[in-house]
Amino acid sequence: MAANGLAGSAFDRSELHRKQAVCDGPAVPGGAVARPANHGPRPDGRGLSPRGWPVGVGIWLVGARGSVATTAVAGAAALRAGLVPPVGCVTETPDFAGAGLAPWSALVFGGHDVVETPLPKRAEALAQAGVIPARLVEAVRDELAAADAEIRPGTESRGGQATEAARLAADVTAFRERHGLDRVVVVNVASTESPREPRAEHDDLAALRNAMRTGTPLPPSSLYAYAAITAGCGYVDFTPSPGIRLPALERFARERGVPYAGSDAKTGETLVKTALAPMFAARALDVRAWSGTNLLGGGDGATLADPAARASKTASKDRALREILGRPVEGETHIDHVPAMGEWKTAWDHVRFEGFLGVGMTLQFTWQGCDSALAAPLVLDLARLVARSHETGGAGPLPELGFFFKDPVGSGEHRLVLQYETLRRWAAGLGEAR
Ligand SMILES: NC(=O)c1ccc[n+]([C@@H]2O[C@H](COP(=O)([O-])OP(=O)(O)OC[C@H]3O[C@@H](n4cnc5c(N)ncnc54)[C@H](O)[C@@H]3O)[C@@H](O)[C@H]2O)c1
Repeated sequence: MAANGLAGSAFDRSELHRKQAVCDGPAVPGGAVARPANHGPRPDGRGLSPRGWPVGVGIWLVGARGSVATTAVAGAAALRAGLVPPVGCVTETPDFAGAGLAPWSALVFGGHDVVETPLPKRAEALAQAGVIPARLVEAVRDELAAADAEIRPGTESRGGQATEAARLAADVTAFRERHGLDRVVVVNVASTESPREPRAEHDDLAALRNAMRTGTPLPPSSLYAYAAITAGCGYVDFTPSPGIRLPALERFARERGVPYAGSDAKTGETLVKTALAPMFAARALDVRAWSGTNLLGGGDGATLADPAARASKTASKDRALREILGRPVEGETHIDHVPAMGEWKTAWDHVRFEGFLGVGMTLQFTWQGCDSALAAPLVLDLARLVARSHETGGAGPLPELGFFFKDPVGSGEHRLVLQYETLRRWAAGLGEAR
């Protein structure tokens, strides 16, 4: 298979088209997909995607012009057209077939960002970096342009936050209405923020609202979360930024009846750690030290070159190991920005452990990943799951989605296999709910 998983792929197109026909209707030549008989246009004529598909779920990306967001938009369009297999999409595996999740055809994209690079241009840059196959960018150019037209100016949250929150919420509400969407999930994939000092207003919604009238009590990620809740949207924090995880906002989400998930997706080193650490614990092997070095380029790498932003990330990365092993171990996690690596990342971990009679041993692993290709399908998975939870009455934190995160909201469970089992059972329940 080619490195990008498209050209020369061993993927059996007929199999995908068979699945697509079940889910979305039959494929037709030219990459377009015919509208299925059971999904006619709505009686009011609203809710048709640019290709004439009935639509239902909006994915509003904060940081919509970033690498992860652009890969998610391009990838969803490619999946919809049957151009790529759903490799890396957890929700396309048989365990989720009965969960009642929105089909690819039902997804519509919009978002906020503080830069203006058009999405097709951003996708071209990612093609040059080897993240998105160049011919795929051409094939989904219309969808990228359609999503680009739905991106609104973001906020750096410098003044008058009440007014700013109202503007952000109005952008999302207008998007939902323009497309006749049943629901919208806001996913934060913006640059990681540095940790903030807690403030008294973060604990109390009324005090927070007061402070927002005149000042700037919230970091931008939390202002977006506030706006998402105001607009009645489910929310996902893909980053370690504070986002919705302030007591006042968590209460607001419960009151408003919106579900949320987070924080900080695990896509590389931490994913492997949470698979391996339970093995040491279950075999009663004594982990003495676990050291990790991460080298990354890309926009995320540039952001994490700032020691304050890096502190958010390493805190999030270190939590899982401590909780799985039940105690802190020696060793640190380092993150270095290496611009020459572009969109790629290398993690090298060195684990020193002792066995019977105190015999010292070592495990080392090297993970070389393309972060955006690992992250983008999870953005789609999470949006589909949160939308379905919302549809079935879910509100407040979704600890069942801990499988996807380094710092799972509402759960101290980090063991990957157990997290997956929880997710699988929960998804089965979603299928049974009306
Ligand atoms: N790629 C992964 O595997 C992975 C895993 C876990 C978490 N994350 C997190 O996902 C986020 C996105 O990663 P990326 O590689 O796409 O980064 P990126 O730098 O390519 O994109 C970030 C985007 O956020 C935008 N942005 C910055 N401040 C903003 C604001 N105030 N409002 C709106 N938009 C703003 C930037 O303009 C940029 O377009 C990062 O926080 C990263 O830590 C990524």
